[in-house]
Amino acid sequence: MTAQPSNSHELRKVFLDFFKDKDHLILPSSSLIPAHDPTLLLTNSGMAQFKAYFSGEMQPPHPRIATSQKCFRTTDIEEVGDDTHLTLFEMLGNFSFGDYFKKDACKWALELMTNNLEFEFERLYFTVYKTDEEAETIWIDLGIPIERIYRFGDKDNWWGPAGEEGPCGPSSEINYYTGSFEDIPKVAARDETANWGPNNNENFLELYNLVFTQFNRDLNRNDSILPAKNIDTGMGLERTLTILQKVNNIYETDLFRPIISHIEKSAKINWGKSPKGDTAIKVVAEHARSATFLIADGVIPENTGRGYVLRRLIRRGMLFGRELGLESSQLSNFVGTIVKEMGSHYPELIDNEQFIVEVLEKEEKTFSKTLNFGTSVLRGMVNYRSKISDPKYPLVLSNESRKSDDPESIGARLANESIKNQIKKNGETQENEVVKKWKGAISGIETFVLYDTYGFPPELTKESVLDKGIDVDIYGFNKEMNKQRERGRISGKKFGGGNNEIKFY
Ligand code: SER
Repeated sequence: MTAQPSNSHELRKVFLDFFKDKDHLILPSSSLIPAHDPTLLLTNSGMAQFKAYFSGEMQPPHPRIATSQKCFRTTDIEEVGDDTHLTLFEMLGNFSFGDYFKKDACKWALELMTNNLEFEFERLYFTVYKTDEEAETIWIDLGIPIERIYRFGDKDNWWGPAGEEGPCGPSSEINYYTGSFEDIPKVAARDETANWGPNNNENFLELYNLVFTQFNRDLNRNDSILPAKNIDTGMGLERTLTILQKVNNIYETDLFRPIISHIEKSAKINWGKSPKGDTAIKVVAEHARSATFLIADGVIPENTGRGYVLRRLIRRGMLFGRELGLESSQLSNFVGTIVKEMGSHYPELIDNEQFIVEVLEKEEKTFSKTLNFGTSVLRGMVNYRSKISDPKYPLVLSNESRKSDDPESIGARLANESIKNQIKKNGETQENEVVKKWKGAISGIETFVLYDTYGFPPELTKESVLDKGIDVDIYGFNKEMNKQRERGRISGKKFGGGNNEIKFY
Protein backbone atom coordinates (compact mmCIF):
# COMPACT_ATOMS: atom_id res chain seq x y z
CA MET A 1 0.00 0.00 0.00
CA THR A 2 1.30 3.45 -0.94
CA ALA A 3 0.57 6.75 0.80
CA GLN A 4 -2.45 8.66 -0.43
CA PRO A 5 -1.30 10.99 -3.26
CA SER A 6 -1.41 14.64 -2.28
CA ASN A 7 -0.80 16.41 -5.60
CA SER A 8 -1.18 15.94 -9.35
CA HIS A 9 2.33 14.53 -9.84
CA GLU A 10 1.78 11.91 -7.16
CA LEU A 11 -1.67 11.03 -8.45
CA ARG A 12 -0.36 10.33 -11.96
CA LYS A 13 2.43 8.25 -10.47
CA VAL A 14 0.20 6.22 -8.12
CA PHE A 15 -2.21 5.43 -10.98
CA LEU A 16 0.49 4.45 -13.47
CA ASP A 17 2.52 2.46 -10.90
CA PHE A 18 -0.61 0.58 -9.85
CA PHE A 19 -1.21 -0.62 -13.40
CA LYS A 20 2.48 -1.20 -14.09
CA ASP A 21 2.34 -3.68 -11.20
CA LYS A 22 -0.55 -5.34 -13.00
CA ASP A 23 1.61 -5.87 -16.07
CA HIS A 24 0.53 -2.77 -18.03
CA LEU A 25 2.91 -1.06 -20.44
CA ILE A 26 3.09 2.66 -19.56
CA LEU A 27 3.00 4.86 -22.65
CA PRO A 28 3.32 8.65 -22.97
CA SER A 29 0.32 10.80 -23.83
CA SER A 30 -0.28 11.12 -27.56
CA SER A 31 -0.49 14.48 -29.31
CA LEU A 32 -3.70 16.54 -29.14
CA ILE A 33 -3.69 16.27 -32.94
CA PRO A 34 -5.02 12.75 -33.59
CA ALA A 35 -2.86 10.71 -35.91
CA HIS A 36 -4.54 8.93 -38.84
CA ASP A 37 -8.06 9.91 -37.72
CA PRO A 38 -9.79 12.31 -40.10
CA THR A 39 -13.04 12.07 -38.11
CA LEU A 40 -11.64 13.55 -34.91
CA LEU A 41 -10.74 17.24 -34.57
CA LEU A 42 -8.73 16.93 -31.37
CA THR A 43 -7.83 14.03 -29.07
CA ASN A 44 -10.82 13.84 -26.75
CA SER A 45 -10.10 10.76 -24.66
CA GLY A 46 -7.41 8.34 -23.55
CA MET A 47 -8.56 5.69 -26.00
CA ALA A 48 -8.30 7.89 -29.11
CA GLN A 49 -4.69 6.91 -29.83
CA PHE A 50 -5.65 3.22 -29.53
CA LYS A 51 -8.65 3.08 -31.86
CA ALA A 52 -6.86 0.80 -34.33
CA TYR A 53 -5.87 -1.62 -31.53
CA PHE A 54 -9.46 -1.89 -30.34
CA SER A 55 -10.80 -2.43 -33.82
CA GLY A 56 -8.22 -5.12 -34.50
CA GLU A 57 -6.69 -3.26 -37.47
CA MET A 58 -3.32 -3.04 -35.68
CA GLN A 59 -1.52 -5.07 -33.03
CA PRO A 60 -0.75 -3.23 -29.77
CA PRO A 61 2.84 -3.42 -28.45
CA HIS A 62 1.40 -5.09 -25.33
CA PRO A 63 -2.15 -6.31 -24.54
CA ARG A 64 -2.35 -4.03 -21.46
CA ILE A 65 -1.47 -0.34 -21.57
CA ALA A 66 -1.88 2.60 -19.15
CA THR A 67 -1.45 6.32 -19.81
CA SER A 68 -2.05 9.80 -18.52
CA GLN A 69 -3.47 11.45 -21.64
CA LYS A 70 -4.01 15.14 -22.38
CA CYS A 71 -7.51 15.59 -23.83
CA PHE A 72 -9.43 18.47 -25.35
CA ARG A 73 -13.20 18.97 -25.63
CA THR A 74 -14.32 22.02 -27.55
CA THR A 75 -17.99 21.98 -26.59
CA ASP A 76 -17.02 23.39 -23.26
CA ILE A 77 -15.24 26.58 -24.35
CA GLU A 78 -18.07 28.91 -23.48
CA GLU A 79 -18.68 27.18 -20.14
CA VAL A 80 -15.14 27.80 -18.98
CA GLY A 81 -15.20 30.30 -16.14
CA ASP A 82 -17.54 28.24 -13.94
CA ASP A 83 -16.21 25.81 -11.33
CA THR A 84 -16.22 22.63 -13.34
CA HIS A 85 -15.66 23.03 -17.08
CA LEU A 86 -12.27 22.74 -18.73
CA THR A 87 -11.28 22.56 -22.37
CA LEU A 88 -8.01 20.76 -21.60
CA PHE A 89 -8.01 17.97 -19.07
CA GLU A 90 -6.02 14.88 -18.26
CA MET A 91 -7.37 11.39 -18.26
CA LEU A 92 -5.72 8.53 -16.44
CA GLY A 93 -6.56 5.32 -18.24
CA ASN A 94 -5.93 1.59 -18.25
CA PHE A 95 -6.65 -0.36 -21.42
CA SER A 96 -6.98 -4.00 -22.35
CA PHE A 97 -6.89 -5.18 -25.96
CA GLY A 98 -8.54 -8.59 -26.03
CA ASP A 99 -6.95 -9.41 -22.68
CA TYR A 100 -8.70 -8.84 -19.31
CA PHE A 101 -12.34 -7.80 -19.31
CA LYS A 102 -15.10 -6.61 -16.95
CA LYS A 103 -14.22 -8.63 -13.85
CA ASP A 104 -10.60 -7.55 -13.55
CA ALA A 105 -11.33 -3.99 -14.68
CA CYS A 106 -13.91 -3.61 -11.88
CA LYS A 107 -11.81 -5.41 -9.27
CA TRP A 108 -8.72 -3.28 -9.95
CA ALA A 109 -10.70 -0.05 -10.14
CA LEU A 110 -12.12 -0.71 -6.68
CA GLU A 111 -8.74 -1.76 -5.28
CA LEU A 112 -7.08 1.37 -6.68
CA MET A 113 -9.75 3.69 -5.34
CA THR A 114 -10.07 2.28 -1.85
CA ASN A 115 -6.50 1.06 -1.24
CA ASN A 116 -4.18 3.37 -3.14
CA LEU A 117 -6.26 6.55 -3.35
CA GLU A 118 -7.79 5.80 0.07
CA PHE A 119 -11.29 6.94 -0.84
CA GLU A 120 -13.96 6.12 1.73
CA PHE A 121 -15.70 2.98 0.48
CA GLU A 122 -19.13 4.20 1.65
CA ARG A 123 -18.85 7.27 -0.57
CA LEU A 124 -18.43 5.27 -3.78
CA TYR A 125 -21.54 4.87 -5.96
CA PHE A 126 -21.74 2.84 -9.14
CA THR A 127 -23.70 3.05 -12.36
CA VAL A 128 -24.11 0.34 -14.98
CA TYR A 129 -25.77 0.15 -18.38
CA LYS A 130 -29.48 -0.62 -18.06
CA THR A 131 -29.20 -4.19 -19.37
CA ASP A 132 -25.74 -5.02 -18.04
CA GLU A 133 -26.61 -7.68 -15.43
CA GLU A 134 -23.05 -8.99 -15.63
CA ALA A 135 -21.45 -5.72 -14.49
CA GLU A 136 -24.01 -5.34 -11.72
CA THR A 137 -23.31 -8.86 -10.43
CA ILE A 138 -19.57 -8.20 -10.51
CA TRP A 139 -19.99 -5.11 -8.29
CA ILE A 140 -22.25 -7.02 -5.90
CA ASP A 141 -19.71 -9.86 -5.69
CA LEU A 142 -17.04 -7.26 -4.90
CA GLY A 143 -19.07 -6.21 -1.88
CA ILE A 144 -21.00 -3.20 -3.20
CA PRO A 145 -24.50 -3.01 -1.64
CA ILE A 146 -27.21 -2.99 -4.29
CA GLU A 147 -28.45 0.39 -2.95
CA ARG A 148 -25.31 1.97 -4.33
CA ILE A 149 -25.63 0.55 -7.85
CA TYR A 150 -27.75 2.52 -10.33
CA ARG A 151 -28.76 1.71 -13.90
CA PHE A 152 -28.80 4.22 -16.75
CA GLY A 153 -29.29 4.16 -20.51
CA ASP A 154 -27.39 5.33 -23.58
CA LYS A 155 -26.97 8.93 -22.46
CA ASP A 156 -25.08 8.12 -19.26
CA ASN A 157 -23.74 4.60 -19.58
CA TRP A 158 -22.68 4.16 -23.17
CA TRP A 159 -19.38 5.53 -24.41
CA GLY A 160 -18.08 6.33 -27.83
CA PRO A 161 -17.14 6.34 -30.49
CA ALA A 162 -14.47 9.02 -30.33
CA GLY A 163 -15.16 10.79 -33.61
CA GLU A 164 -17.76 9.72 -36.16
CA GLU A 165 -16.90 6.04 -36.08
CA GLY A 166 -14.95 3.48 -34.08
CA PRO A 167 -15.01 1.30 -30.97
CA CYS A 168 -17.68 1.87 -28.33
CA GLY A 169 -19.63 0.03 -25.66
CA PRO A 170 -21.59 0.04 -22.42
CA SER A 171 -19.89 1.56 -19.42
CA SER A 172 -19.89 1.51 -15.66
CA GLU A 173 -19.01 4.67 -13.76
CA ILE A 174 -17.66 5.14 -10.27
CA ASN A 175 -18.98 8.25 -8.59
CA TYR A 176 -17.91 9.89 -5.35
CA TYR A 177 -20.53 11.20 -2.94
CA THR A 178 -19.44 14.51 -1.44
CA GLY A 179 -22.55 15.18 0.66
CA SER A 180 -23.45 14.34 4.23
CA PHE A 181 -24.31 10.75 5.16
CA GLU A 182 -27.39 12.06 6.98
CA ASP A 183 -28.82 13.33 3.69
CA ILE A 184 -28.88 9.91 2.07
CA PRO A 185 -32.54 8.97 1.61
CA LYS A 186 -33.73 5.55 2.64
CA VAL A 187 -34.67 4.40 -0.85
CA ALA A 188 -33.70 1.46 -2.91
CA ALA A 189 -31.26 2.07 -5.74
CA ARG A 190 -32.83 2.88 -9.11
CA ASP A 191 -35.97 4.25 -7.51
CA GLU A 192 -36.61 6.81 -10.22
CA THR A 193 -39.08 8.73 -8.09
CA ALA A 194 -36.38 9.43 -5.51
CA ASN A 195 -34.54 11.69 -7.95
CA TRP A 196 -31.35 11.12 -6.02
CA GLY A 197 -28.03 9.41 -6.66
CA PRO A 198 -25.36 9.72 -9.39
CA ASN A 199 -26.35 11.80 -12.44
CA ASN A 200 -29.27 13.22 -10.41
CA ASN A 201 -27.68 15.02 -7.53
CA GLU A 202 -24.93 17.62 -7.57
CA ASN A 203 -23.21 15.97 -4.60
CA PHE A 204 -21.99 13.19 -6.86
CA LEU A 205 -18.79 13.53 -8.83
CA GLU A 206 -18.14 11.09 -11.64
CA LEU A 207 -14.52 10.04 -11.28
CA TYR A 208 -13.77 6.83 -13.15
CA ASN A 209 -15.44 5.51 -16.28
CA LEU A 210 -14.98 1.84 -17.23
CA VAL A 211 -15.98 1.16 -20.82
CA PHE A 212 -16.53 -2.40 -21.93
CA THR A 213 -15.53 -1.89 -25.54
CA GLN A 214 -17.21 -4.68 -27.47
CA PHE A 215 -18.67 -2.89 -30.50
CA ASN A 216 -17.58 -0.94 -33.51
CA ARG A 217 -19.88 1.83 -34.80
CA ASP A 218 -19.63 2.66 -38.50
CA LEU A 219 -20.36 5.99 -40.22
CA ASN A 220 -24.01 4.95 -40.67
CA ARG A 221 -24.28 4.42 -36.90
CA ASN A 222 -24.50 0.63 -37.17
CA ASP A 223 -22.82 -1.39 -34.41
CA SER A 224 -20.98 -4.64 -35.10
CA ILE A 225 -19.29 -6.93 -32.57
CA LEU A 226 -15.52 -6.48 -32.36
CA PRO A 227 -13.26 -9.52 -32.78
CA ALA A 228 -12.15 -9.21 -29.14
CA LYS A 229 -13.54 -7.81 -25.89
CA ASN A 230 -11.62 -4.80 -24.66
CA ILE A 231 -11.40 -2.42 -21.73
CA ASP A 232 -11.09 1.36 -22.01
CA THR A 233 -11.11 3.34 -18.79
CA GLY A 234 -10.76 6.99 -17.94
CA MET A 235 -10.28 8.65 -14.58
CA GLY A 236 -10.51 12.46 -14.59
CA LEU A 237 -7.28 13.68 -13.02
CA GLU A 238 -8.58 17.14 -12.09
CA ARG A 239 -11.80 15.97 -10.46
CA THR A 240 -10.04 13.22 -8.55
CA LEU A 241 -7.58 15.82 -7.26
CA THR A 242 -10.38 18.01 -5.87
CA ILE A 243 -11.36 15.11 -3.61
CA LEU A 244 -7.79 14.27 -2.61
CA GLN A 245 -6.97 17.90 -1.91
CA LYS A 246 -10.35 18.61 -0.27
CA VAL A 247 -10.96 21.74 -2.33
CA ASN A 248 -14.17 23.15 -3.77
CA ASN A 249 -13.18 23.30 -7.41
CA ILE A 250 -10.50 22.39 -9.92
CA TYR A 251 -8.97 25.88 -9.86
CA GLU A 252 -7.96 25.37 -6.25
CA THR A 253 -5.95 22.23 -7.00
CA ASP A 254 -2.17 22.30 -7.41
CA LEU A 255 -2.70 22.16 -11.19
CA PHE A 256 -4.02 25.71 -11.25
CA ARG A 257 -2.82 27.38 -8.06
CA PRO A 258 0.60 28.48 -9.38
CA ILE A 259 -0.94 29.88 -12.60
CA ILE A 260 -3.57 31.74 -10.62
CA SER A 261 -0.93 33.18 -8.24
CA HIS A 262 0.94 34.47 -11.27
CA ILE A 263 -2.23 36.07 -12.68
CA GLU A 264 -2.99 37.62 -9.28
CA LYS A 265 0.47 39.19 -9.19
CA SER A 266 0.34 40.48 -12.77
CA ALA A 267 -3.17 41.89 -12.53
CA LYS A 268 -2.80 43.04 -8.92
CA ILE A 269 -6.06 41.38 -8.05
CA ASN A 270 -6.82 38.72 -5.48
CA TRP A 271 -8.56 35.43 -6.05
CA GLY A 272 -11.77 35.06 -4.06
CA LYS A 273 -12.65 38.76 -3.89
CA SER A 274 -15.49 38.90 -6.43
CA PRO A 275 -17.31 36.34 -8.58
CA LYS A 276 -16.68 38.45 -11.71
CA GLY A 277 -12.96 38.71 -10.98
CA ASP A 278 -12.73 34.99 -10.25
CA THR A 279 -14.47 34.12 -13.51
CA ALA A 280 -11.99 36.23 -15.46
CA ILE A 281 -9.03 34.68 -13.60
CA LYS A 282 -10.34 31.17 -14.32
CA VAL A 283 -10.79 31.89 -18.03
CA VAL A 284 -7.31 33.39 -18.39
CA ALA A 285 -5.71 30.50 -16.46
CA GLU A 286 -7.60 27.80 -18.34
CA HIS A 287 -7.25 29.24 -21.82
CA ALA A 288 -3.56 30.09 -21.30
CA ARG A 289 -3.02 26.45 -20.31
CA SER A 290 -4.93 24.90 -23.18
CA ALA A 291 -3.48 27.30 -25.76
CA THR A 292 0.01 26.41 -24.49
CA PHE A 293 -0.70 22.70 -24.96
CA LEU A 294 -2.24 23.13 -28.41
CA ILE A 295 0.67 25.19 -29.71
CA ALA A 296 3.18 22.72 -28.22
CA ASP A 297 1.55 20.08 -30.41
CA GLY A 298 1.85 22.24 -33.51
CA VAL A 299 -1.55 23.94 -33.75
CA ILE A 300 -1.32 27.59 -34.79
CA PRO A 301 -4.10 30.21 -34.89
CA GLU A 302 -6.13 30.01 -38.10
CA ASN A 303 -9.66 30.65 -39.27
CA THR A 304 -10.66 27.00 -39.66
CA GLY A 305 -10.47 23.68 -37.83
CA ARG A 306 -8.06 23.23 -34.94
CA GLY A 307 -6.44 26.58 -35.60
CA TYR A 308 -9.82 28.24 -35.18
CA VAL A 309 -10.38 26.54 -31.84
CA LEU A 310 -7.01 27.89 -30.73
CA ARG A 311 -7.77 31.37 -32.05
CA ARG A 312 -11.09 31.42 -30.18
CA LEU A 313 -9.36 30.38 -26.96
CA ILE A 314 -6.69 33.03 -27.24
CA ARG A 315 -9.19 35.78 -28.06
CA ARG A 316 -11.60 34.78 -25.33
CA GLY A 317 -8.70 34.59 -22.88
CA MET A 318 -7.48 38.04 -23.93
CA LEU A 319 -10.90 39.61 -23.48
CA PHE A 320 -11.14 38.30 -19.94
CA GLY A 321 -7.52 39.35 -19.42
CA ARG A 322 -8.50 42.91 -20.37
CA GLU A 323 -11.25 42.75 -17.79
CA LEU A 324 -8.55 42.07 -15.23
CA GLY A 325 -6.68 45.13 -16.49
CA LEU A 326 -4.00 43.12 -18.31
CA GLU A 327 -3.32 45.37 -21.27
CA SER A 328 -0.86 43.16 -23.13
CA SER A 329 0.64 39.63 -22.95
CA GLN A 330 -2.66 38.50 -21.45
CA LEU A 331 -1.80 34.84 -22.01
CA SER A 332 1.84 34.65 -23.17
CA ASN A 333 2.94 36.02 -19.82
CA PHE A 334 1.88 32.81 -18.06
CA VAL A 335 3.47 30.23 -20.35
CA GLY A 336 6.63 29.98 -18.19
CA THR A 337 4.62 29.03 -15.11
CA ILE A 338 2.55 26.47 -17.02
CA VAL A 339 5.65 24.86 -18.52
CA LYS A 340 7.35 24.76 -15.11
CA GLU A 341 4.38 23.05 -13.51
CA MET A 342 3.50 20.56 -16.23
CA GLY A 343 6.67 20.12 -18.30
CA SER A 344 7.94 17.16 -16.26
CA HIS A 345 5.06 14.99 -17.48
CA TYR A 346 4.61 16.69 -20.88
CA PRO A 347 8.19 17.38 -22.11
CA GLU A 348 6.90 18.77 -25.40
CA LEU A 349 6.04 21.91 -23.41
CA ILE A 350 9.69 22.37 -22.40
CA ASP A 351 10.94 21.63 -25.92
CA ASN A 352 8.63 24.22 -27.48
CA GLU A 353 8.43 26.92 -24.82
CA GLN A 354 9.98 29.68 -26.92
CA PHE A 355 7.78 28.83 -29.91
CA ILE A 356 4.63 28.84 -27.75
CA VAL A 357 5.44 32.31 -26.40
CA GLU A 358 6.15 33.64 -29.90
CA VAL A 359 2.90 32.29 -31.38
CA LEU A 360 0.87 33.71 -28.49
CA GLU A 361 2.58 37.10 -28.61
CA LYS A 362 1.95 37.38 -32.34
CA GLU A 363 -1.75 36.57 -31.96
CA GLU A 364 -2.05 38.92 -28.99
CA LYS A 365 -0.55 41.73 -31.03
CA THR A 366 -2.81 41.08 -34.02
CA PHE A 367 -5.95 40.77 -31.94
CA SER A 368 -5.15 43.94 -29.96
CA LYS A 369 -4.91 45.81 -33.25
CA THR A 370 -8.16 44.21 -34.44
CA LEU A 371 -9.85 45.18 -31.21
CA ASN A 372 -8.64 48.76 -31.52
CA PHE A 373 -9.87 48.91 -35.12
CA GLY A 374 -13.23 47.38 -34.09
CA THR A 375 -13.57 49.98 -31.33
CA SER A 376 -13.33 52.75 -33.94
CA VAL A 377 -15.79 51.01 -36.29
CA LEU A 378 -18.25 50.83 -33.42
CA ARG A 379 -17.62 54.50 -32.60
CA GLY A 380 -18.51 55.29 -36.22
CA MET A 381 -21.82 53.42 -35.82
CA VAL A 382 -22.65 55.24 -32.61
CA ASN A 383 -21.65 58.70 -33.91
CA TYR A 384 -23.65 58.21 -37.07
CA ARG A 385 -26.74 57.45 -34.99
CA SER A 386 -26.25 60.49 -32.81
CA LYS A 387 -26.20 62.78 -35.87
CA ILE A 388 -29.64 61.74 -36.96
CA SER A 389 -32.65 63.74 -36.03
CA ASP A 390 -34.60 63.49 -39.29
CA PRO A 391 -35.59 59.89 -40.16
CA LYS A 392 -34.72 60.67 -43.79
CA TYR A 393 -31.15 61.45 -42.86
CA PRO A 394 -29.97 57.86 -42.51
CA LEU A 395 -30.40 57.40 -46.20
CA VAL A 396 -27.77 60.02 -46.90
CA LEU A 397 -24.07 59.77 -46.16
CA SER A 398 -21.49 62.48 -46.59
CA ASN A 399 -19.20 62.05 -49.59
CA GLU A 400 -16.30 61.62 -47.28
CA SER A 401 -17.91 58.78 -45.27
CA ARG A 402 -19.00 57.09 -48.46
CA LYS A 403 -15.45 56.52 -49.65
CA SER A 404 -13.05 56.64 -46.75
CA ASP A 405 -11.33 53.53 -45.42
CA ASP A 406 -10.94 54.87 -41.95
CA PRO A 407 -12.71 52.68 -39.38
CA GLU A 408 -15.21 55.33 -38.25
CA SER A 409 -16.41 55.81 -41.83
CA ILE A 410 -16.69 52.04 -42.22
CA GLY A 411 -18.86 52.03 -39.08
CA ALA A 412 -21.02 54.86 -40.43
CA ARG A 413 -21.51 53.01 -43.72
CA LEU A 414 -22.51 49.79 -41.95
CA ALA A 415 -24.98 51.67 -39.76
CA ASN A 416 -26.35 53.43 -42.84
CA GLU A 417 -26.81 50.19 -44.75
CA SER A 418 -28.45 48.54 -41.79
CA ILE A 419 -31.11 51.26 -41.41
CA LYS A 420 -31.70 51.46 -45.16
CA ASN A 421 -32.36 47.71 -45.26
CA GLN A 422 -34.69 47.85 -42.30
CA ILE A 423 -36.72 50.67 -43.78
CA LYS A 424 -36.91 48.77 -47.04
CA LYS A 425 -38.07 45.62 -45.23
CA ASN A 426 -40.64 47.33 -43.03
CA GLY A 427 -42.04 49.84 -45.49
CA GLU A 428 -42.21 53.65 -45.34
CA THR A 429 -45.17 53.73 -42.96
CA GLN A 430 -43.18 52.12 -40.14
CA GLU A 431 -40.20 54.38 -40.72
CA ASN A 432 -40.36 56.34 -37.47
CA GLU A 433 -40.63 53.20 -35.37
CA VAL A 434 -37.83 51.46 -37.25
CA VAL A 435 -35.46 54.39 -36.92
CA LYS A 436 -36.24 54.71 -33.21
CA LYS A 437 -35.42 51.07 -32.61
CA TRP A 438 -32.26 51.24 -34.71
CA LYS A 439 -31.09 54.35 -32.83
CA GLY A 440 -31.55 52.56 -29.51
CA ALA A 441 -29.65 49.40 -30.42
CA ILE A 442 -26.73 48.31 -32.57
CA SER A 443 -28.53 46.07 -35.05
CA GLY A 444 -28.02 42.33 -35.48
CA ILE A 445 -26.18 42.69 -38.77
CA GLU A 446 -23.86 45.42 -37.47
CA THR A 447 -23.09 43.34 -34.35
CA PHE A 448 -22.45 40.35 -36.59
CA VAL A 449 -20.05 42.22 -38.90
CA LEU A 450 -18.22 43.58 -35.85
CA TYR A 451 -17.86 40.03 -34.63
CA ASP A 452 -17.17 38.25 -37.88
CA THR A 453 -14.90 40.75 -39.60
CA TYR A 454 -13.40 42.71 -36.71
CA GLY A 455 -13.26 39.99 -34.05
CA PHE A 456 -15.45 42.02 -31.73
CA PRO A 457 -17.66 39.68 -29.66
CA PRO A 458 -21.26 40.81 -28.98
CA GLU A 459 -20.63 40.92 -25.23
CA LEU A 460 -17.93 43.50 -25.84
CA THR A 461 -20.14 45.51 -28.21
CA LYS A 462 -22.82 45.56 -25.54
CA GLU A 463 -20.43 46.64 -22.83
CA SER A 464 -18.89 49.35 -25.00
CA VAL A 465 -22.18 51.13 -25.79
CA LEU A 466 -23.85 50.67 -22.41
CA ASP A 467 -22.85 54.07 -21.08
CA LYS A 468 -24.32 55.74 -24.20
CA GLY A 469 -27.75 54.34 -23.43
CA ILE A 470 -27.55 52.09 -26.50
CA ASP A 471 -28.37 48.39 -26.46
CA VAL A 472 -27.38 45.51 -28.76
CA ASP A 473 -29.88 43.49 -30.78
CA ILE A 474 -28.68 40.06 -29.59
CA TYR A 475 -31.72 38.37 -31.12
CA GLY A 476 -30.80 39.78 -34.54
CA PHE A 477 -27.16 38.86 -33.98
CA ASN A 478 -28.07 35.25 -33.22
CA LYS A 479 -30.18 35.16 -36.37
CA GLU A 480 -27.16 36.25 -38.40
CA MET A 481 -25.01 33.66 -36.59
CA ASN A 482 -27.49 30.94 -37.45
CA LYS A 483 -27.43 31.99 -41.08
CA GLN A 484 -23.65 31.72 -41.00
CA ARG A 485 -23.78 28.29 -39.34
CA GLU A 486 -26.14 27.18 -42.06
CA ARG A 487 -23.70 28.43 -44.69
CA GLY A 488 -20.96 26.47 -42.86
CA ARG A 489 -23.04 23.32 -42.81
CA ILE A 490 -23.74 23.59 -46.50
CA SER A 491 -20.09 24.11 -47.31
CA GLY A 492 -19.43 20.72 -45.72
CA LYS A 493 -18.72 19.58 -42.22
CA LYS A 494 -15.28 18.09 -42.19
CA PHE A 495 -14.94 16.74 -38.70
CA GLY A 496 -17.39 14.91 -36.52
CA GLY A 497 -17.61 13.61 -33.02
CA GLY A 498 -20.20 15.18 -30.74
CA ASN A 499 -17.51 16.10 -28.27
CA ASN A 500 -15.78 18.28 -30.75
CA GLU A 501 -18.37 20.35 -32.52
CA ILE A 502 -17.62 24.04 -32.58
CA LYS A 503 -20.06 26.46 -30.96
CA PHE A 504 -19.80 30.22 -30.90
CA TYR A 505 -19.89 32.13 -27.69
N1 SER B 1 -13.27 6.63 -23.26
C1 SER B 1 -13.92 6.79 -21.98
C2 SER B 1 -14.07 8.24 -21.58
O1 SER B 1 -13.51 9.08 -22.23
C3 SER B 1 -13.16 6.04 -20.92
O2 SER B 1 -11.83 6.31 -21.05
O3 SER B 1 -14.71 8.51 -20.61
